[in-house]
Amino acid sequence: MNLQAQQPIGIFDSGIGGLTVAHAISRLLPHENLVYYGDTAHLPYGDKSAEAVRQFSLGITKFLEEQNCKMVVVACNTASAAAFEALQSEFGERILLVNVIDPMVDYVQQHYPTAKVGIIATKGTVNARVYPRKLALKDITDVHALATPLLVHLIEEGFSKHAGSKLLVEEYLNQATLKDIDVLILACTHYPIIKGYIEDFYQKKVEVLDSTLITAEAVKSQLKNLSLLNTQQELGTHHFIVSDYTAAFEQITKLFWGEAVALEKNNIWEKENI
Ligand code: DGL
Repeated sequence: MNLQAQQPIGIFDSGIGGLTVAHAISRLLPHENLVYYGDTAHLPYGDKSAEAVRQFSLGITKFLEEQNCKMVVVACNTASAAAFEALQSEFGERILLVNVIDPMVDYVQQHYPTAKVGIIATKGTVNARVYPRKLALKDITDVHALATPLLVHLIEEGFSKHAGSKLLVEEYLNQATLKDIDVLILACTHYPIIKGYIEDFYQKKVEVLDSTLITAEAVKSQLKNLSLLNTQQELGTHHFIVSDYTAAFEQITKLFWGEAVALEKNNIWEKENI
């Protein structure tokens, strides 16, 4: 690999979810340049086949490599579950790759090795069974996963501060699958946006874990180990690209980064950008 510290970090998700991870990375590593791709034209990934999600992920990672990224962060659990191995075999010799699942699994092993673990995620992530499999390799076997697919739609539609989201969160978290858990993994990068409702529901009786800072720390330690942290004086630039324009994307980006964000539409699957 012939990578330079000044190259940007690429980050992608189906929509606004990965912005929660991108924001954590920008706070932890303010001098890194970031290129974010939100594949809003194909959202939601959670209801698509693993093969479709793999194809989208391969296309986006190729695009981010063309943008000269030194690292691509798969800031989407569904894509991490369906596509990470394919991305490693296609790009792993040329760029660094980070997913959102492995750092979380390591974190749970370190901090909650004997816990009863609940997971909420998209259908795609739950059906792939990648969390139970990886946790079992760390001897954590009391793991209970529930698909909560409606949450992504509410969040993408801008309902993250709406009483309807609170009700839906309560409905899902009351399911028998999640009874008596000690820890809940938010295994979808959209969910930190409604983490307040989830924490309110549990009233501190359950530890609610999200992958934003945990993934950002994994990004930092990998870049640091390889002496690839950007040491430029000025703050990093942030470039946001979407495959289709959505109001929610613009709204959340501005919420995290302030008014001055430049949002570009570029559907990489279309020959002409329309
Ligand atoms: N944010 C994504 C995840 O972490 C998926 C949302 C979706 O497109 O269904 O799984």
